[in-house]
Amino acid sequence: SLSIAPISQFHVGAIAKGKSGRLYFGANMEFTGLPLNQSVHAEQSAICHAWLKGEPEIIDITINYSPCGHCRQFMNELHGAENLLIQLPNLPAKTLAEYLPDAFGPSDLLIDQPLLTPINHGLPESGIDELTNAAIDALNKSHAPYSKNLCGLALRTPDGQIFTGRYAENAAFNPSISPFQVALISMTMAGVEVTDINEVSLVELHYNVISLKEECERLLHQLNPQATLTYHQL
Ligand code: THU
Ligand code: ZN
Repeated sequence: SLSIAPISQFHVGAIAKGKSGRLYFGANMEFTGLPLNQSVHAEQSAICHAWLKGEPEIIDITINYSPCGHCRQFMNELHGAENLLIQLPNLPAKTLAEYLPDAFGPSDLLIDQPLLTPINHGLPESGIDELTNAAIDALNKSHAPYSKNLCGLALRTPDGQIFTGRYAENAAFNPSISPFQVALISMTMAGVEVTDINEVSLVELHYNVISLKEECERLLHQLNPQATLTYHQL
């Protein structure tokens, strides 16, 4: 019911179950006018939802369709990924290792920090404004062990609510998810329209080898061309 699928009309929902016993909803999200690779899959949505709520580990994920290869790879970034249980309609539970044999993952790149591990990269809130401080807080919790491009975003809705998003990289690079997409997941799961954005603050590091600036600007322009984006490099 939370899926936004104007291109495919194909609605996917996922529920991630945390070690805490809590359940986190997720749904797919598509953006007209943008490349298809900007789409968010339901599994990514549920996992990022759990991440933003501080869940340290996901043990089980229920989906109404079989997870695509991209999602299997995205899930392989999680702590204990091989034992993660996948629940599908009319099928017995199977582990991610069964769905993704001979997997490529973080350990192949000598990374041992899984996605969802509570982390604080410790960059100080520079006090520019409330929104940027929220973006710096998100940056401090971002997962960028491959490029080291720590990155966070905060946005404000017309009624003054702030939503944040953290960048999450994947060992296979392409399934990585931008902080803007993560913030949009947060909005959608809170029942807020993704176009309800007045201003955005994006923060990344100045010595990075990649940048998410233009991708985020393009997404914002598509969602709401009236909204403003401020960009800071720490
Ligand atoms: N989709 C998912 O959300 N999860 C999957 O693993 C399969 C595909 C979504 C992505 C896109 O919005 C639509 O379904 C068609 O591919
Ligand atoms: Zn998928």
